Amino acid sequence: MIIIASDHGGLELKETVKQALQDRGVEVRDLGTMNSDSVDYPDFGAKVAGALARGEADRGILICGTGIGMSIVANKFPGVRAALISDEFTAQMSKEHNNANVIVMGGRVLNSEQACRMVNVWLDTSFEGGRHQKRLDKIAQIEENVRAGRV
Ligand code: RB5
Repeated sequence: MIIIASDHGGLELKETVKQALQDRGVEVRDLGTMNSDSVDYPDFGAKVAGALARGEADRGILICGTGIGMSIVANKFPGVRAALISDEFTAQMSKEHNNANVIVMGGRVLNSEQACRMVNVWLDTSFEGGRHQKRLDKIAQIEENVRAGRV
């Protein structure tokens, strides 16, 4: 199951990506936004990243105009590794090296074919582990230090 959300700037691409995921047989939980009214991306980024932090889902997709705002929000949540991806290479690396559990895309940056290819690459790529796991462990340690006020 993949949890997905966007603001108004990412709505159109969210709908396209959602359909492509469903066509692939992936169950999708859509947390909005559901129409083109202007909304605030932090509200929707927090819905997806919060659900991951609570263990309600393993993977999420966030889309705003550029992907920047959603990335900033999602990476505030413990255990969330949100990657702003821009092409198939960064989609592949986000999983292979960073084990990104959230990908973020810009609805005003990417066309729908590109974005769907990138989502497929992320889903079809495995985390390499090894030296990359050591680096993720360091990120987890940083999160713990920040939580404990050791900054
Ligand atoms: C909304 O206009 C826009 O600021 C938002 O979609 C996003 O690009 C923010 O980073």
